[in-house]
Amino acid sequence: MNIVISGASKGIGFEVAIKFANLGHRVLALARNSDKLKQLQKASPLIDILSIDLCNDLGGDSIQTKLNAFSKVDILINNAGQLINKPFLNTSIEEFNLQINANYLSSIRLIQWTYPYLLKSKASHIVNISSMGGFQGSSKYLGLSGYSASKGALITLTECLANEFKEDDISVNALALGAVGTEMLASAFPDYKAPLTPKQMAQYIVDFSINGKQYFNGKILPVALDNP
Ligand SMILES: NC(=O)c1ccc[n+]([C@@H]2O[C@H](COP(=O)([O-])OP(=O)(O)OC[C@H]3O[C@@H](n4cnc5c(N)ncnc54)[C@H](OP(=O)(O)O)[C@@H]3O)[C@@H](O)[C@H]2O)c1
Repeated sequence: MNIVISGASKGIGFEVAIKFANLGHRVLALARNSDKLKQLQKASPLIDILSIDLCNDLGGDSIQTKLNAFSKVDILINNAGQLINKPFLNTSIEEFNLQINANYLSSIRLIQWTYPYLLKSKASHIVNISSMGGFQGSSKYLGLSGYSASKGALITLTECLANEFKEDDISVNALALGAVGTEMLASAFPDYKAPLTPKQMAQYIVDFSINGKQYFNGKILPVALDNP
């Protein structure tokens, strides 16, 4: 299969890319940091990389070239994200905007760019990586209003697109992750020890991306042992 994953230069996305390649799938790995992407590429000849900032539209042409070489996309994983841990009243509009852009609009861009290639797969799966913070009724944490609300938007988008793409045989689901030990979590909660490593979470994401569309469409699955 052909896989596109955003946010693959580190953390969970890095491990997901490696696991897919180890299973023999072709991977297009996206992120901004080209040095880290080059490190990832060394892990397997099945991994191609593209340095791209998904917070603007400028990468449209470069990703098109990569996708043409791919010809079809079977799985798109919208995993790129950013978190700013600040109380609501101290958070600037620019900081809210950044999180909406990185956690929500980035996925919209990538879905629009990959849509023609997802169609060609005949049975493709979009997996949006959201957060327990954006999951309705979950515990909420001080300092995460901007982050959680942007992840909530991604959840609602998931439900809408599952309906909109039904006739296209494109399934759309979201995973609302709990705590995983990555740089993002450590920067927000330095004293907290997460119950899962990025490798462990990556295993679930890979399995779900491959098999989940047989059982779910338009669903939001909490994947959480614990939240900070
Ligand atoms: N770790 C947790 O506990 C946890 C819990 C719930 C949900 N999540 C979600 O899981 C996903 C992965 O998180 P993580 O913990 O692995 O975070 P991470 O280690 O900080 O990795 C985030 C990834 O997103 C990429 N990224 C950020 N902004 C980008 C942009 N504008 N354009 C392209 N790529 C961008 C980063 O790469 P560059 O900097 O190279 O661009 C990096 O590869 C995120 O969506 C996060 O919100 C994580």
